[in-house]
Amino acid sequence: MGYKAYVFDAYGTLFDVHSVMERIHDHFPDKGEQISQEWRSRQVHYFLVRQLVQGYVPFSDITHWALKDALRYSGASVDSDVTEDLMKQYEKLQPYKEVHDLSDRNPDKTLTIFSNGTRAMLEPLLANNQLESSFDLLSADDPKVYKPHPKAYQHAQEELGFEKDEILFFSSNPWDITGAASYGFHTAWVNRNDDKWPELGI
Ligand code: LAC
Repeated sequence: MGYKAYVFDAYGTLFDVHSVMERIHDHFPDKGEQISQEWRSRQVHYFLVRQLVQGYVPFSDITHWALKDALRYSGASVDSDVTEDLMKQYEKLQPYKEVHDLSDRNPDKTLTIFSNGTRAMLEPLLANNQLESSFDLLSADDPKVYKPHPKAYQHAQEELGFEKDEILFFSSNPWDITGAASYGFHTAWVNRNDDKWPELGI
């Protein structure tokens, strides 16, 4: 298949959202894993609910709200200096080991990140990992509609200027793969933990 563009989800696919756990551990030694897991699952849950009810709010707000609730749920204090520190840490997430040489290994492809994150979240994340020249960047904050809504992938396709079947979309998130495949992209599920594909009837 002659793909012209490889498009990547960011959080969970190229960047390990749980690499923030070390910093959480600094604040709450015995709650790092619980808070990190709660934070991610609430972040995904909250943006999906907002997309369906009263519509889009920026992923930075969603991530901040999910963090505060993850702390509360885990019995940890919710001080603004701690939440600010952890939100800042979200700009320093670790990329997975194969990410740094992706562009060298694919010189003939356009490599693009398409994320629900805002540019204000993603640009420092790429810069902090010296990846800003490796990927073009598309954000759901531009069309103000979250993946997996079809209009989000339509926006990405229009920005890329390629046909649907010229685009291969990579994500670790089944909800994202489902949305992209339903829209018509070819997809590759980045399944690092050998998870079972969820029954979504799609
Ligand atoms: C992303 C996360 C939310 O869009 O999957 O980068």
